[in-house]
Order: sequence, then structure tokens, then C-alpha cells
Amino acid sequence: GAPVEVDVSKIEEGQLVRAIWQGKPVWIVRRSKQTLEKLDQIGDKLRDPESLEPQQPEYIVNTYRSVKPEIFVAVGLCTHLGCSPTYLPDSFGEQVEGVSSGFFCPCHGSKFDMAGRVFKSVPAPLNLVVPPYTYLNDNRILVG
Ligand code: FES
Repeated sequence: GAPVEVDVSKIEEGQLVRAIWQGKPVWIVRRSKQTLEKLDQIGDKLRDPESLEPQQPEYIVNTYRSVKPEIFVAVGLCTHLGCSPTYLPDSFGEQVEGVSSGFFCPCHGSKFDMAGRVFKSVPAPLNLVVPPYTYLNDNRILVG
């Protein structure tokens, strides 16, 4: 499939924007400073906090699983059986494994943090997939 261009400049903090790439839903989320700080603190709750499994391009292996910390890009499909997880922004107020934001899969209860990292003791075996993408400039990314 053709690469997909997304303007990230208008995405507000906490907002999730959707695109389609290779027939799959792709999420682009702008994360706040507080959200990023939490990602540093919850490694012990996660199955693969250091992204050792090849669920992202090599240039994206870091705590935030992103090129720029504030912009998170992921394929929006649960790594269990492929349902579409629900986004819980910080403002939602619900807790995911004691963390107040992330992605929750309604099909069998899998939970992922704001870097798409899977929590321990849920059915999903792997972190969400991060697709290949590059910044064309400060405002635009190219997915694919
Ligand atoms: Fe998401 Fe099963 S498909 S938990």
C-alpha cells in the first residue's frame, strides 16, 4: 500500500487522530509531558517494557516507542485476536492497571499503556505494532 501523510500540527494534547494504512487503522496521539513521565515509571507492570520484541522499526526502540516523544503512532489492532482497542485519555479518569490512560481492548480485556506496551496478565502477548514512519517536516509525518 501507498504511504499515508498525516498533519500532526493540529492534534491537541490527549487527542487521538485516525488514519488508514495498508487497510489497517493507524492512531496518532499527542501525549502530554505528564503522560510521558508516567511511561518511565511503570516498566514493572509491563510484559515488554524495553520493546525487545520486534513490534516496531529498529529506530523506534525506546521507552516512548516513537520518533518524537510527544507524538505516538501505532496500528490500532489488539495483538491478541485483532479487535480494536478503546482509547482512554487521561481526562477519561478511568484507571488501566493503576495508570490513568492507555488503550483497553473490550474483546478479552487486554490493556496497553500510552506507548502501546502491553500490561502483564492480560491475554495479548505483544505490544501494539508501531508502523514505519518518518517526519517530512515538523508538521507532517509519512506512515509507511
Ligand atoms: Fe483484544 Fe482479545 S482481541 S483482548
